[in-house]
Amino acid sequence: MDISKLDQKIKPSGTMAISNKSRELKSQGKPVIGFGAGEPDFPSPDYVVDAAIKAAADPKNHKYSPAAGLESLRQIIAKTTKDYSGFEINSDNVIVSNGGKQSILTAFLSILDPGDEVIIPAPYWTTYPEAVKIAGGTPVFIETEKSNNFKVTVEQLEKSKSKNTKMLVWCSPSNPTGVVYSKEEAEEIYEWIFKNDLWILSDELYEHLVYEGETSPSPAVYDPELKNTIIVNGVSKSYSMTGWRVGWLIGNKSVIGLGKKIQSQATSNVSNVSQLAAEAALLNGLDVTNEMKIAFNRRRLFATEKINSIPNLNVVDSTGAFYLFVDVSHYCSGKNGLNSSEEFCDWLLENYFIAFVPGEVFGTPGFMRLSYALSDEDLDNGLSRLSEAIDNLNE
Ligand SMILES: Cc1ncc(COP(=O)(O)O)c(C=O)c1O
Repeated sequence: MDISKLDQKIKPSGTMAISNKSRELKSQGKPVIGFGAGEPDFPSPDYVVDAAIKAAADPKNHKYSPAAGLESLRQIIAKTTKDYSGFEINSDNVIVSNGGKQSILTAFLSILDPGDEVIIPAPYWTTYPEAVKIAGGTPVFIETEKSNNFKVTVEQLEKSKSKNTKMLVWCSPSNPTGVVYSKEEAEEIYEWIFKNDLWILSDELYEHLVYEGETSPSPAVYDPELKNTIIVNGVSKSYSMTGWRVGWLIGNKSVIGLGKKIQSQATSNVSNVSQLAAEAALLNGLDVTNEMKIAFNRRRLFATEKINSIPNLNVVDSTGAFYLFVDVSHYCSGKNGLNSSEEFCDWLLENYFIAFVPGEVFGTPGFMRLSYALSDEDLDNGLSRLSEAIDNLNE
């Protein structure tokens, strides 16, 4: 019996594929150092765990709750959004979801009809195009330039616009490059969106993880009625809570109305225990985030310097998230039998037990993504192995 044609259209998560391969090698006893993880290496804060234990013991939380999320959490999200992101919403503008990932799919399902196009600047986070396709839309990619630090320009957007364009996906600080758009650069893009009356899905998961200068302003600051703007955010990265699966979608009444219907049919509420853990995270502020940032920044500077000192490897200037995007094109041009960044990363994993994510996964071959959310010791050892691998290639 046939299954859906979606089977030929969508790919599984490329970043998860690397994690699975690393896990397999580890289970064979290989000393794998993983640079693939898209999550902080710290445990969740104690007060988060305590709140969850308390929540689990309360029978009230053993029952279904509203599909859009607990009202108390939605109110706290509205408050922290005003305090941190600088725009005003109320709890009716929020749906709590199973991680930011679910909110991204809900956003596409809420906006797109068949034939609608979504502009996605590459390199992009691997989920965007697949989620667009699941929602029946068509991803349209823009290849941004390394010489422009992989930032999309209005000129490129103008060229890729068609009568079917409905939306732009926007992510700053960026996964996979760690690049952060300046206020002026972001404003130019937002102005183009508003002028063309398109939607912008702004993925703000990494908004607090910026090490130099300011984070980009949210488009919602310039669109207080959320006429064109949908925001995705969550606790995963800023509070080291990836496993709790709490994110949220922010939108106007129509978007939230349809989003709620979709979520009520898809998953009902997010686990009450996780929602109350997320409440504790938000109520306790950003001290924990700032502590992680000290470690991330130290590793960012160390890794950038170490990689840039390896012959013919260089790192894209990055000031946010916890990723570096490394140009490895010199080593995948067919010399030494390595024909792509995918083959290069496979070779590193199989021979040196270091796991990176190849640029193909993000729509930009010739590069690889490195996450520096791992211990200083592993970072140092893993990069020494990279250096040794390149020395051997150059021999
Ligand atoms: C850019 C970006 N957006 C959204 C997410 C989803 O995060 P979560 O579903 O864990 O909240 C991730 C996770 O890797 C991400 O990197």
